Amino acid sequence: MATTGTAETTRRDFLYIATGAMGAVGAAALVWPFVSQLQPDASVLALASTDVDISQIAEGQIVTVKWRGKPVFVWNRTPEDIAKSKEVALSALLDPIARNANLPPDAPATDENRAAPDKERWLVVIGICTHLGCVPIGHAGEYDGWFCPCHGSEYDQAGRVRRGPAPTNLEVPPYAFASDTKITIG
Ligand code: FES
Repeated sequence: MATTGTAETTRRDFLYIATGAMGAVGAAALVWPFVSQLQPDASVLALASTDVDISQIAEGQIVTVKWRGKPVFVWNRTPEDIAKSKEVALSALLDPIARNANLPPDAPATDENRAAPDKERWLVVIGICTHLGCVPIGHAGEYDGWFCPCHGSEYDQAGRVRRGPAPTNLEVPPYAFASDTKITIG
């Protein structure tokens, strides 16, 4: 589904498996430094970009790819997901900042500023909880975004933190559409 510059299929599969296993056992947490031991050295990571073929990601599906040694969630959101996200007032957010590397640092965390420009169904976020670095579980929690089993943080349909202790929204990495079916992260 995804092709990568440096990530290998086996490593990506590891992330799928690890994330799925957390869903199965509930409380078991994958803390990011554990996974990072599998990564190439810093000089390689600094240059890496990841190409993601999104043509096979079904509506509603979240896939996990790797970019510079980190998990990145790519979500093909449904119209219902998008509508729910857009209903949320900025004043209701724990973190009102977009945290989007493609926008100015003070951009507000509207759904538009979190999702892909002109392709609002696509949400691309770094899959590392902003509390202590666990990998959250997708389609879980009250907001049907991500639930972090470590300490109970929850994120919504735009990857915005809605329940702490995580202090900030999931980060949106730098990325662009290379074509209608390919995203280049980094
Ligand atoms: Fe996610 Fe603590 S690491 S809630």
